Amino acid sequence: MPRAIATNRARLRARVLTTYALPPEARAALGDVRLTTYRGRQPILRAALARRLRDVDGLLCLLTDRIDADILARAPRLRAIANRAVGYDNVDLHAAAARGIVVTNTPDVLTETSADLAFALILAAARRVCEGDRLVRAGRWRGWSPDLLLGQDVHGATLGIVGLGRIGAAVARRAQGFGMRVLYHQRRPVPHLPAGATKVALGRLLAAADIVTLHVPLTAATRHLIGARELARMRRGAILVNTSRGAIVDEAALARALASGRLAAAGLDVFAREPHVPRALRARANVVLTPHVASATTATRTRMAVVAARNLAAVLAGRRPPNPVALPAATASVAPPAH
Ligand code: DGY
Repeated sequence: MPRAIATNRARLRARVLTTYALPPEARAALGDVRLTTYRGRQPILRAALARRLRDVDGLLCLLTDRIDADILARAPRLRAIANRAVGYDNVDLHAAAARGIVVTNTPDVLTETSADLAFALILAAARRVCEGDRLVRAGRWRGWSPDLLLGQDVHGATLGIVGLGRIGAAVARRAQGFGMRVLYHQRRPVPHLPAGATKVALGRLLAAADIVTLHVPLTAATRHLIGARELARMRRGAILVNTSRGAIVDEAALARALASGRLAAAGLDVFAREPHVPRALRARANVVLTPHVASATTATRTRMAVVAARNLAAVLAGRRPPNPVALPAATASVAPPAH
């Protein structure tokens, strides 16, 4: 190819920034773009992100990257943000809408994997798996005893699912295998209602469930959805599991409910200010803690990266992406980016 044509082609290729190393399958799905990869072990710093976004058309980012109005104001060419997560509370949708930027997420591919971890936390919290593990490891186990680490039955218990979207429904399917009674609370219509699940108001769910599991996205309406008042409505000795977003729960109120014995245990994969986990929660033996790993299997994380790359490639090629996030009506008067 003559050099002038090759140079022109290179100029025309879309510029993409990714804040994580792409697996080869995702790189292939991205197609012919000029790619810049941030390879740090820690999330990219804001100043570095802003600097690198200056002349970029598309961004592949993680839920640890806060994409707010200030960052977007410094990204005049940006056309698309492909979040490698189903949740997108890290992206300011109003600011993106105001700039005509498409936002995408990665639903479906992580549903079953995330439901597996929610169920793992249900079982671990109810059956005190981590306490048992610590006891044995520490060499403090003195032998079989009829009242050692008595927990609660999961089979036959009442499970309250707050948010019966894809992941909540996948948890309900698992609960059926355990012979559980399933109650759910969900405002929007449920596309695939699992057989035997009963819709109830949140207050009734909290009062009736032995185990409550949270599967709602974080929005202004769901922040601290489970606070002191809601925890006080839960059954004495109930268990709370959260694999959605930390800020759905008032962590200080949860620590108090655990300390007072109102709740028997909790299983938490997400925290309000990750990676910070309040000491009051870390200090309690009856809290099972995992570091936001609900979707963390090799296969699922690879699929998520591929889906994110396909979404971005579609927008850059002028097509509708497979997984657009519904944006609020643009309100601010910001000049759209120069595409
Ligand atoms: C998501 O995709 O939103 C999860 O929290 C990541 O595992």
